[in-house]
Parts: sequence; structure tokens; C-alpha cells
Amino acid sequence: MFQLDRFIEDCKAAHAEDSSHKAVHEVISRAVSEPGQVIGGLGEPTKGGVQKLYHSDTLTILNVIWAPRMTLLPHNHNMWAVIGVYSGREDNIFWRRLEDETEAQIEAAGAKSMAAGKATPLGKDIIHSVTNPTDLFTGALHVYGGDFYDAHRSEWEPETLTERPFDYDGNTQRFQDANAAARMARERG
Ligand SMILES: [Fe+2]
Repeated sequence: MFQLDRFIEDCKAAHAEDSSHKAVHEVISRAVSEPGQVIGGLGEPTKGGVQKLYHSDTLTILNVIWAPRMTLLPHNHNMWAVIGVYSGREDNIFWRRLEDETEAQIEAAGAKSMAAGKATPLGKDIIHSVTNPTDLFTGALHVYGGDFYDAHRSEWEPETLTERPFDYDGNTQRFQDANAAARMARERG
């Protein structure tokens, strides 16, 4: 059975032993290798949002629920991350900065579809956008090697792909809009 307190303690111990993502990656891989157990411990994802599970100056653990078909703009974290999906799927596009900033400042450089049962590490400099391509809620454990809420982060405007400061309120609104859209879709049947 997945126990949240135990998982948090295991992540803290792993991080204390190795401040890179590696030991934490092992802890998350083990946890999400049995997705049903994580759902049993955290509950079935039913509403999009970001739930803070643990937070310190050096480590942040989040339970991120993506509403059906929602997309987050390209953004960075400026710290390593490990994403372990335990329900549904999230599709990631990875972006790279362009040296010659003629029009856009970034270009798509790769993609990875992350399904329940697997954990994926993301490097410190990664820029990614995330889509839940399914009609269901996607649940993922996100662990970051720093203070996620105090970091200077950027996002990239979707039409011009120009950089701007990460808009926490705008992103909260994005979750709310996606929840409203999911509710309407459910009511339509
Ligand atoms: Fe992210």
C-alpha cells in the first residue's frame, strides 16, 4: 500500500543521501510502478490542480492532477525534477532556446509521452510544455530539487514563443478553466 508519509520520508532520505535527482528517481519509480497502490493512497484524481505534499528550501513534492485535454505553456523550473505518472498520461514537448532570436525564442526539440507506471527525470535547464491528451484526469507525483515556489521561472507565450515571467495566477486560472470544461463535457454526457 502506498503511504504518503512514508513516500515523503523516503524522498527526503534519498535526497539527503544524494542531492542529484538519481536517488529520488529510484524512490518515485518504485512508487509509481504500482499505480493502483498510489491511487489507493492518494485517491482517484477527480479535479485538476496542484497539491503541495512537502516543501523545503531544497525539495518540493507535488501531486499534480491534469484535467482532461488541458495544456500548460512551455515553462522551465531552473531545478531538476522527476515526474512519476500514476494515472492517465501526460505528453511533453521539450523546447530549446534559439541562439538567433529572430522571431521565436525557443523551438521544439523533442517529445515524450509519459504513461502511468513510469517516472522520468528532467534536467535543471529543461523547458517543457505538458498536455493531457486523454478524456480522464491524469495524476502525477512531481518532485523538484529545490524550492519550487521561490524559484525565478519563465514561461513562453504560446503564439510568439517569447519569454516572460512565470504567471502563477494565470496557471491557476488554466486549471480552473480546464476543470470547468471537464464539468461541462461530463454534463453533456
Ligand atoms: Fe513543468
